[in-house]
Amino acid sequence: MDFSAFFRALLFCAFLSAAQGLHIAPHDIDKLLLPAYDYIVVGGGVAGLVVAHRLSEHPDVTVLVLEAGSLDSSPDIITVPGLVGHGIVPAYNWNLSTTRQEFLDNNTRYYDQGHVVGGGSILNGLLMTRGAKADYDAWQSLGNPGWSWHRMLHYFKKSERFAPIACREHVDPLHIHPHMPVHGTKGPLQVGYPNFFYNQSANFLQGIAELGVPILSDPNAGVSAGASVAPSSIMARNQSRADSRRAYLDHVLHRPNLHLASQQTATRVLMSDLATGGFPLISKRLKKAYAVEFRTSAESPQRNAFCNREVILAAGAILSPAILQVSGIGPASVLEELDVPIQVNLPGVGANFQDHAMVHAFYNYTESGLFSSRNLTGAVLQEVEEQYFTNRTGPWTHPLISTIAFPHLSHLTSMWPSLLSNITSSPESYLPLGPGRHPTLLKGYTHQLRQLKSLLSDSTVGAIEIMADSVGTLTISIQHPLSRGFVHALSSDLLANGSVARNIHLDPRYCSHPLDCDLILQGLRFNSRLIATEAMKKLQPRPESPWNITDENILNEAIRSQVVTEYHPSGTTSMMPLNMGGVVNTRLTVYGTANLRVVDAGIIPLLPAAHIQAAVYAIAERAAAMIKKDNPSPMASGIPGPPLGPGIVKGSGQ
Ligand SMILES: Cc1cc2nc3c(=O)[nH]c(=O)nc-3n(C[C@H](O)[C@H](O)[C@H](O)COP(=O)(O)OP(=O)(O)OC[C@H]3O[C@@H](n4cnc5c(N)ncnc54)[C@H](O)[C@@H]3O)c2cc1C
Ligand SMILES: *[C@@H]1O[C@H](CO)[C@@H](O)[C@H](O)[C@H]1NC(C)=O
Ligand SMILES: *[C@@H]1O[C@H](CO)[C@@H](O)[C@H](O)[C@H]1NC(C)=O
Ligand SMILES: *[C@@H]1O[C@H](CO)[C@@H](O)[C@H](O)[C@H]1NC(C)=O
Ligand SMILES: *[C@@H]1O[C@H](CO)[C@@H](O)[C@H](O)[C@H]1NC(C)=O
Ligand SMILES: *[C@@H]1O[C@H](CO)[C@@H](O)[C@H](O)[C@H]1NC(C)=O
Ligand SMILES: *[C@@H]1O[C@H](CO)[C@@H](O)[C@H](O)[C@H]1NC(C)=O
Ligand SMILES: *[C@@H]1O[C@H](CO)[C@@H](O)[C@H](O)[C@H]1NC(C)=O
Ligand SMILES: *[C@@H]1O[C@H](CO)[C@@H](O)[C@H](O)[C@H]1NC(C)=O
Ligand SMILES: *[C@@H]1O[C@H](CO)[C@@H](O)[C@H](O)[C@H]1NC(C)=O
Ligand SMILES: *[C@@H]1O[C@H](CO)[C@@H](O)[C@H](O)[C@H]1NC(C)=O
Repeated sequence: MDFSAFFRALLFCAFLSAAQGLHIAPHDIDKLLLPAYDYIVVGGGVAGLVVAHRLSEHPDVTVLVLEAGSLDSSPDIITVPGLVGHGIVPAYNWNLSTTRQEFLDNNTRYYDQGHVVGGGSILNGLLMTRGAKADYDAWQSLGNPGWSWHRMLHYFKKSERFAPIACREHVDPLHIHPHMPVHGTKGPLQVGYPNFFYNQSANFLQGIAELGVPILSDPNAGVSAGASVAPSSIMARNQSRADSRRAYLDHVLHRPNLHLASQQTATRVLMSDLATGGFPLISKRLKKAYAVEFRTSAESPQRNAFCNREVILAAGAILSPAILQVSGIGPASVLEELDVPIQVNLPGVGANFQDHAMVHAFYNYTESGLFSSRNLTGAVLQEVEEQYFTNRTGPWTHPLISTIAFPHLSHLTSMWPSLLSNITSSPESYLPLGPGRHPTLLKGYTHQLRQLKSLLSDSTVGAIEIMADSVGTLTISIQHPLSRGFVHALSSDLLANGSVARNIHLDPRYCSHPLDCDLILQGLRFNSRLIATEAMKKLQPRPESPWNITDENILNEAIRSQVVTEYHPSGTTSMMPLNMGGVVNTRLTVYGTANLRVVDAGIIPLLPAAHIQAAVYAIAERAAAMIKKDNPSPMASGIPGPPLGPGIVKGSGQ
């Protein structure tokens, strides 16, 4: 070995050992945490890992991800698509639930959210849908110049490594003809199709077509109204889950400038007044984030991670607004109740909560000899497992759902214009009392209702979704909810009383606007027509009570007892103008702050008619590009140091 190679090897080793803190387990935190990082990303879920990956591409900047959950241990229940829907590893769940839903049946609802590196992408149903072009153009119309479908498309493609279907025999019967120009083939997240389909998928598509709903060869090309086999976030080659951890983290965890501290719950962002002389050109008194406070569990000591440049909140649409509130950024009345000093009075934080309300309706397919996921027991299951692990084929490659439809309102009822006729009138009667009634929020909601009316009238946009599994469930969800809920922290310490879930008040206010439940009813009526089509009759569907009944009162009551979440919380840190109740601007910076951004599903101002992971990956890709652009040349001490800069003794104790 020559000397220079020897020294290079030596240097490399030194480098590696300095880099051992890449994944910082709780017991190593004091040893390995740097005195300060350029960027601190709070939450290593879908958006957080995208941002951390992109920012750490530059070797001179340091990035810390603080994630409350741990790294998953790759159990089959996570990696095997055929096991979607078979339950969630308890430790990977935040155990949240909603308040009593007064516009439904006065009961609470469980609300699963990922508490694990990778966040929701470790638990989710793998569906990859974008929604319609018009859904994103509506974001722009809500006062967000530059946020349109056209601009999003670049980032949808950037995040994606799309693999066309491998099994030719499914292409024509299932109308799988992706439009390649709208797909990315070089991005980190693999998107593809399973190697197996149940025959019922074809019945569903044909039945839908009999009812006049178009079949889309690619649901992600800008038109969402129609039915299709949607692609999944699965790795085409080994037919296993593609998630943000495996796509964006695992293969860059060797970067010495990227640290992941897992099992650390962020409890506060510490804010200061921007030091005078720091930004002489900025006259407004912006607040500056200089550290993030965190701890391993309720009982462990509090620590601070200091930041030189920016803090990026990516804790998801439920917990990011809660973190803002306990940090003094939120509606004044909420902050007063929490007894938290006000940094920025921002009425939109936690408001404008939106979700897709969903009802599972079961129409048992009883055709004799039918093969469905119900057959995967005993010897058949053994065979299916073996087939999966040896050849990556067979029913275990297929996720719970692949075949879906997004009918437009006109497909549901000829009376649809009258359903929409007065939805823009009296918006004030639908917003929650209290902080939710701030005039700016009312103005924002009024604008949203106008957009919703035009989206629901647009023939390219879905009003509801129908998801078909192989056994006879035809799940209905509304796609453009008019109801608005909210999230409030209940204690200034998010870990008070032992767990975060105890300190979160989550009220989706499902069906507080009655049209939302009315549209679910329209969806159930559509289902009744669907199972009566020639194609679907072959499956001999037998609706389970009360879905075999037409009495509207009984159905309405059933809907109200059965609405659950489709797991698409959003809107709570909306990107909208400040005078419309917005929380972040079009660069995703929190109003009133210099260097605090939110990058997660919470910034979505208006839900698209789609499962939203594709949108969240794209938002995060775009945010990372913006953050890089806004922080041009990496410098050891770029932005003027925080008032309590790096090198300060770390906080300890509580
Ligand atoms: C059960 C389920 C099924 C779903 N199915 C689909 C589907 O089929 N298709 C689809 O498109 N979408 C689906 N989704 C939705 C999709 O997964 C989410 O929209 C997406 O994960 C949101 O990304 P995010 O980055 O906003 O938040 P998350 O992915 O939830 O990430 C937030 C992260 O922040 C961490 N965190 C939160 N608070 C703190 C804190 N205080 N300190 C430290 N870390 C913190 C969390 O542990 C988590 O890892 C599903 C979601 C769930 C839960
Ligand atoms: C959720 O509950 C399970 C037990 O059911 C527990 O193991 C897990 O730690 C809890 N999650 C959190 C974030 O506390
Ligand atoms: C829910 O509770 C409210 C107030 O207690 C009551 O008026 C209403 O009838 C209840 N609704 C149902 C469906 O039980
Ligand atoms: C599938 O392959 C990818 C690499 O392409 C790998 O990261 C992943 O762990 C594999 N998953 C399984 C379950 O084998
Ligand atoms: C569905 O129908 C099958 C008969 O084909 C029956 O064995 C099964 O119990 C039914 N399932 C439910 C949940 O009703
Ligand atoms: C699947 O199971 C059902 C009973 O649940 C049975 O009637 C049917 O024949 C099975 N199908 C196949 C293809 O084995
Ligand atoms: C689908 O139907 C065909 C023809 O009836 C049959 O040969 C095949 O086994 C079925 N496949 C599945 C997965 O049920
Ligand atoms: C795997 O595929 C090969 C080739 O098609 C086949 O011979 C074998 O039986 C398959 N194994 C299993 C377990 O399905
Ligand atoms: C809209 O019209 C329906 C009847 O067509 C009525 O029940 C409802 O109260 C009206 N809503 C508003 C906000 O005026
Ligand atoms: C926490 O516990 C205290 C005392 O036991 C109780 O007063 C308070 O309401 C609890 N807070 C929450 C959010 O559960
Ligand atoms: C609906 O199904 C239930 C059993 O599931 C049955 O008792 C009832 O008679 C059915 N109603 C109609 C209208 O078919």
